[in-house]
Amino acid sequence: MYVCLCHSVTDTDIRRLVRTEGVCSMRELSRQLGVATQCGKCGRCAREVLGEALHEARSEAGCAALAAA
Ligand code: FES
Repeated sequence: MYVCLCHSVTDTDIRRLVRTEGVCSMRELSRQLGVATQCGKCGRCAREVLGEALHEARSEAGCAALAAA
């Protein structure tokens, strides 16, 4: 789904950035994708998706650590 219409950013874009670039804050997200830098209406949704993506990334990292042990 589209999160930021001004910059054509989807939830998939945000999740990918968290996984591949280690983005973990709204500041970094805004800097890299432009989220919430124009009209600002996407800020709340972007923050929610970022939170979910970080939770998923931490869960996967925890599972990977358990599997490696
Ligand atoms: Fe994201 Fe406008 S919808 S800045």
